Amino acid sequence: MGKTSVLLVGFLFSFLVATVQAGDKYKKYNDPSLPINKRIRDLMRRMSLDEKIGQMVQIDRKVATPEVMRDYKIGSILSGGGSVPHLQATPQEWLNVVNGFQNGSLSTRLGIPMIYGIDAVHGHNNVYKATIFPHNIGLGATRDPELVKRIGSATAREVRATGINYVFAPCIAVCRDPRWGRCFESYSEDPDIVKEMTEIINGLQGEIPKDSRKGVPYVGGKDKVVACAKHFVGDGGTTRGINENNTVIDKHGLLSIHMPGYNAAIIKGVGTVMVSYSSWNGVKMHANHDLVTNFLKGALRFRGFVISDWQAIDRMTYPVHANYTYSVLTGVQAGLDMIMVPYNYTEFIDTLTGLVKNKFIPMSRIDDAVRRILRVKFQLGLFENPLSDESFIDQLGHQAHRDLAREAVRKSLVLLKNGENADEPMLPLPKKSSKILVAGSHADDLGNQCGGWTINWQGGSGNNLTSGTTILKGIAEAVDPSTEIVYEENPEF
Ligand SMILES: *[C@@H]1O[C@H](CO)[C@@H](O)[C@H](O)[C@H]1NC(C)=O
Ligand SMILES: *[C@@H]1O[C@H](CO)[C@@H](O)[C@H](O)[C@H]1NC(C)=O
Ligand SMILES: *[C@@H]1O[C@H](CO)[C@@H](O)[C@H](O)[C@H]1NC(C)=O
Ligand SMILES: *[C@@H]1O[C@H](CO)[C@@H](O)[C@H](O)[C@H]1NC(C)=O
Ligand SMILES: *[C@@H]1O[C@H](CO)[C@@H](O)[C@H](O)[C@H]1NC(C)=O
Repeated sequence: MGKTSVLLVGFLFSFLVATVQAGDKYKKYNDPSLPINKRIRDLMRRMSLDEKIGQMVQIDRKVATPEVMRDYKIGSILSGGGSVPHLQATPQEWLNVVNGFQNGSLSTRLGIPMIYGIDAVHGHNNVYKATIFPHNIGLGATRDPELVKRIGSATAREVRATGINYVFAPCIAVCRDPRWGRCFESYSEDPDIVKEMTEIINGLQGEIPKDSRKGVPYVGGKDKVVACAKHFVGDGGTTRGINENNTVIDKHGLLSIHMPGYNAAIIKGVGTVMVSYSSWNGVKMHANHDLVTNFLKGALRFRGFVISDWQAIDRMTYPVHANYTYSVLTGVQAGLDMIMVPYNYTEFIDTLTGLVKNKFIPMSRIDDAVRRILRVKFQLGLFENPLSDESFIDQLGHQAHRDLAREAVRKSLVLLKNGENADEPMLPLPKKSSKILVAGSHADDLGNQCGGWTINWQGGSGNNLTSGTTILKGIAEAVDPSTEIVYEENPEF
């Protein structure tokens, strides 16, 4: 071997070292110019089992710290109903808390950002002084999908004001029995109306480009959030309206009544789907491989991620949490991608890790889940913009949104009967009436007026829950000063 060859080999060697070093610094998955599929593939091949399982975990804010995010490589946080930093936290305070958690995630080996979800189901309703929009039952009554889309846009901006980027909405339940306590979360008993109201997704996530492939999630812009169609499927069809119970119906009924909303949501690029606590013909939806994997991911071609409901894994057995190994095995095998644990994450991580290591759950199932979660995160632009800035802070409770809520209330009112006979309608009342009786326990109660999912999961009573105008106060502001207003909580007629 001559001198030249030795030199050449030396040169080649240093060239190789240089390339490997550059390759290590240049992380393909962080390159926004590459197609998302390439970025996912590159990131997935770098991930260990515990990094993958971490992505599948969603924990509540109450148990989250930047250190927990880092040490357990947790993929997501949520604020469950009423889980707020403190009762009257400002957008700035929210932003700092969320960014703090995100810093924990960014300090991991691969720096995969977490996604933060919240139940913004009628506006950003957990947050003090956010605009509270009518519940879905009222919005359905407007028959105005374009209005509902604008509400989606406004809600997305208010959510972004607090640094959050994912909402557990819309609920596209088709309530078939008014005894169901969650009927107010359903747009209608009519599947066609529910389908039309999925227009809110275009407001929350942005309008999906015309040439998109069916099922690929879409989120368009920094003022948008990831949406979640829920609860898959048949939540509004349970026996006698018993919550979380059994929906007894044949396949044709399920597909024609409870499924059309999902098809519409998927066409609009919805990022995630939440599974229902309820059962279909005796099988828990969280255990239903046929519907979650074969139908939703297969037939409907949904490519976003499937998330479980709050502690739903635990509720797969009776009594609750009776056999956690069974629950995790069955749920993940059914096709759940992200698990809303939401507290005992070490138990979940240990259980799922054991099931994978002992080959009860194949690696391909874990890879499917992680691929879907990463796709939504890339689509959201989270890798480029993991930390929120203050540009949307003024959007919380913005006057334009309050005006929109007022428009929605006006359009959602349903007049069943206008006076005793049609020739003498009672409404509208003249501004200058001599005396107006305002009656009823909800007439001067902001909390009752706002309903469930307001500040707390179940809502609350009283006038200091958040800011707003009660019906009594609104009437007093609208009438002529000469009009006498009498308020009776329980009048004797
Ligand atoms: C997060 O980290 C960034 C960059 O290191 C820093 O500027 C910011 O102050 C941190 N934010 C919080 C809330 O910890
Ligand atoms: C439905 O409710 C009944 C009565 O509470 C209960 O016994 C039954 O276990 C429930 N079924 C399901 C599937 O949740
Ligand atoms: C719990 O579930 C696992 C997995 O299905 C099963 O092997 C085990 O026997 C169950 N344990 C009990 C106590 O039922
Ligand atoms: C979490 O689950 C493990 C295993 O079941 C248990 O030992 C531990 O006490 C639980 N932790 C909490 C905080 O409930
Ligand atoms: C509203 O008043 C109740 C009862 O006085 C109190 O417990 C609660 O903290 C108050 N809420 C707010 C938001 O100030």
